[in-house]
Amino acid sequence: MENFTFYSPTYFVFGRDTENQAGSLVKRFGGSRVLIHYGGGSAVRSGLIDRVSSSLRAECLDFFCLGGVKPNPRSGLVYEGIELCRREKVDFILAVGGGSVIDSSKAIAAGTVYEGDFWDFYSGKRIEQALPVGTVLTISAAGSEGSPDSVITKEDGMFKRGASGDAIRPRFSILNPTLTQTLPPYQTAAGITDIMAHLYERYLTNTKEVEVTDRMIEALLLTMIHEGPRAVADSGNYDARANIMWAGMMAHNNSCGVGRSQDWNSHNIEHELSALYDCAHGAGLAVTMPAVFTYVMKHDVMRFAQAAVRIWGCQMDFANPEATAREGIERFRSFLCSIGMPRNFAELGAKEEDIPALVNALCRGDGRQGTISGFVTLDEEDCAKIYRLMV
Ligand code: NZQ
Ligand code: ZN
Repeated sequence: MENFTFYSPTYFVFGRDTENQAGSLVKRFGGSRVLIHYGGGSAVRSGLIDRVSSSLRAECLDFFCLGGVKPNPRSGLVYEGIELCRREKVDFILAVGGGSVIDSSKAIAAGTVYEGDFWDFYSGKRIEQALPVGTVLTISAAGSEGSPDSVITKEDGMFKRGASGDAIRPRFSILNPTLTQTLPPYQTAAGITDIMAHLYERYLTNTKEVEVTDRMIEALLLTMIHEGPRAVADSGNYDARANIMWAGMMAHNNSCGVGRSQDWNSHNIEHELSALYDCAHGAGLAVTMPAVFTYVMKHDVMRFAQAAVRIWGCQMDFANPEATAREGIERFRSFLCSIGMPRNFAELGAKEEDIPALVNALCRGDGRQGTISGFVTLDEEDCAKIYRLMV
């Protein structure tokens, strides 16, 4: 295991009706002038924004609202939010929504207290300071409710990039599984896929002897395999949604990723798909992961074989571990299809003729030098081959 530090200061409040504590939590964590940031409408339609606003009023907090965050959130609204926060002297940002809303909130939080262009953070500068952010989560997926990360798409060029820093870890996150019961099955499944991707991206490591985190990841993946189909089949299944919600947080607050190298090639390759086609991030990952895994499998066949046996219940073929590894990848692909995720470019709405543009944006866009690195370092030719495996 490698040396590491781990700082996860988020205060979690989990369970039914917990959104009514938003006002008291904002106060407890020092907010007095609050920006409530939300998405395209689901949180308004469900009455959640009204309930959260009432709880802020009950604590005599001043607040402003900024809605309209799109999935795969854009830089334009971030600039608008930064201006609003500076103008109104906002001192706390309350994100009410999914990963997109939370990531947009984190970008605004960092940008408001930074003199330069907030995009600097998405071009590699680490976030050291930000306004405090709290969240009321409405979809189990991105894990942004416990992570130090934010992903934004720059409209000029449509580059989708991430930024990071402990300063943007939420001060508190309210996790009420009933809020996720209004999600359509496709969105639920996309979230499940993203959670599984966050686990796999950590499982694919070049660090040896990391049994504790290997076993934690396996436990969470087995939970997703059990609970995922139950939530997709019955949106009202509270227990399935509760287990998925907590698994989604643990999958990405990095408790499973400490002390080991991680991959993230699947995420980088997918981000170009959701940037170009505006598809759900999880749906893009469902098509991306089996292709990436198949392409890089030979780098460490035994790691994929271990996943096949421990996670997918395959029998180890000691004479031919590659066959076991392949079977594990196929079982993963079938699982994703069984919950309604796309299998290939056509089902995702992607086009083969766009592959050169995807590769260029991935390997050269926004200052990159021709490769992406993770479990394996991939150059432009590798990435083109991987995209072709998805066709
Ligand atoms: O905008 P509204 O109307 O709210 O609709 C949203 C949106 O259309 C809808 N939705 C959310 N909660 C709902 C609901 N509909 C009905 N009932 C509810 N309770 O779901 C759609 C998707 O929402 P979004 O926030 O985009 O989903 P998700 O949480 O999957 O976030 C995706 C974004 O997170 C990024 C992704 O790249 C993508 O941009 N990621 C962020 C990470 C992080 N910050 O750590 C890591 C991830 O790997 C990921 O890259
Ligand atoms: Zn993700």
